[in-house]
Amino acid sequence: MKLAAGVSAATTPLVSFSTLSHAMDGRTVLAIPGWEQAAGEHALVLGPSGSGKTTLINIICGLVTPTSGSARIDGMDMTALAPAARDALRRRTIGLVFQTLRLIPALTVRENLALAQHIGRGLHDPAEISALIARVGLAHRADAKPRALSQGEGQRAAIARALITRPRLVVADEPTSALDDSNAAAMIDLLFETATATGATLLVATHDVRIRPRFAKVLTLAPPALQAAA
Ligand SMILES: Nc1ncnc2c1ncn2[C@@H]1O[C@H](COP(=O)(O)OP(=O)(O)OP(=O)(O)O)[C@@H](O)[C@H]1O
Ligand SMILES: [Mg+2]
Repeated sequence: MKLAAGVSAATTPLVSFSTLSHAMDGRTVLAIPGWEQAAGEHALVLGPSGSGKTTLINIICGLVTPTSGSARIDGMDMTALAPAARDALRRRTIGLVFQTLRLIPALTVRENLALAQHIGRGLHDPAEISALIARVGLAHRADAKPRALSQGEGQRAAIARALITRPRLVVADEPTSALDDSNAAAMIDLLFETATATGATLLVATHDVRIRPRFAKVLTLAPPALQAAA
């Protein structure tokens, strides 16, 4: 099959990195072997608090440059790109659900999605926003501001905001750790369901071992002390 310029071959991993390490304040906080994740292959990054999950996500998303090694998104070396090109690649490819949600407090759920849609795709499609809000079960809270949402509702709003740009990769940092068992299971169901519906691939980071059985592909990060000794 002949591929048009800019279209990657099916064999190009969606996410890959070489042996990767990162130090902060002179201390190694991440030291891991290489990894490849194909499009459609949902994966979990599992490790205790402080093992470097958020650091790894920041590297994959081009928000942090690793001390050594490099991360590729869809075959493009995120770490080698200039800041503006990194931002463009992230905007084009990744929907990020932050550990601390980072919804804009002055805007309603609907307005948060509208802003993300405008920044990510340069358009305003109210019908798509309403459909996505309904899909995550927040139709009755669409005009609420983030501070008026429960923890689980805020997480669902953050997932909807990540999906509104139609990303190929959805990265979620600790989406379940603050939730009880049934809400944690519902959150993972929602991530899988929305990823399937939009054709996105999931990369979920957590210390929550309850969701381990839901993923066939797992990258396990050692506790910080063991990593530093490796
Ligand atoms: N800006 C920083 N300066 C120095 N050290 C940092 C900084 N940010 C994180 N660290 C350290 O790097 C290590 C990894 O942090 P990171 O946030 O990636 O862990 P995590 O696995 O996401 O933890 P958690 O499950 O608690 O979110 C920790 O020991 C943390 O204290
Ligand atoms: Mg973290």
